[in-house]
Amino acid sequence: MALTQDDMKRAVAQAAIAYVPNDCIVGVGTGSTANFFIDELARIKNKIRGAVASSEASAKRLQGHGIEVLSLNDAGDLPVYVDGADEITRHMHMVKGGGGALTREKIVAAASQKFICVCDASKLVDVLGKFPLPIEVIPMARSYIARELVKLGGQPKLREGFTTDNGNVILDVHNLQIMNPVELETTLNQLAGVVTNGLFARRGADVLLLGTPDGVRTLT
Ligand code: 5RP
Repeated sequence: MALTQDDMKRAVAQAAIAYVPNDCIVGVGTGSTANFFIDELARIKNKIRGAVASSEASAKRLQGHGIEVLSLNDAGDLPVYVDGADEITRHMHMVKGGGGALTREKIVAAASQKFICVCDASKLVDVLGKFPLPIEVIPMARSYIARELVKLGGQPKLREGFTTDNGNVILDVHNLQIMNPVELETTLNQLAGVVTNGLFARRGADVLLLGTPDGVRTLT
């Protein structure tokens, strides 16, 4: 029987457990693939000290499994961060933030020694940008940043009815062909009022566990 997308997500989540050292605090991402990882983590919860979550939703799911959730300030640097992506290239550059958790994801990833990206095969692309690029902005800067994004060739759309865990809004930028993700990430970071942009290129993934119909492929 053919594997479903959920089967592939579950398979990469299971494979990611091998990257979790004993007795550590694990960085945990957000989204449907990260949720599968949280469920797998629950099976080995007695072997870890706890987790740092990249969103309120992931924190809730972790706690629901009886896994202690620590603040990053208390946990210090983490050995490993496991999270999904909306798009990823073979160079390990990603677009993230489809679930709106990009800011905390980028912070926890930055504080982690290894970023293990867990995705089904549909996320692997040659060029980033088909998936609209999420940008978290301070609400008062929304229109200004939208105008700047148009100058950069994008078509920003406000994510209606959505507020981030940090109390901000998200602009999803359509129609970008991101040929140089490191440069664009840096450019977007310079816009006043941008909290975080969804390009994870300056600090990409270290390992990609890709769920395919033939099993889990590991890319480094
Ligand atoms: C959330 C994210 C997620 O990692 C991304 O949206 C992928 O989610 P999923 O595993 O559900 O496809 O960046 O902000």
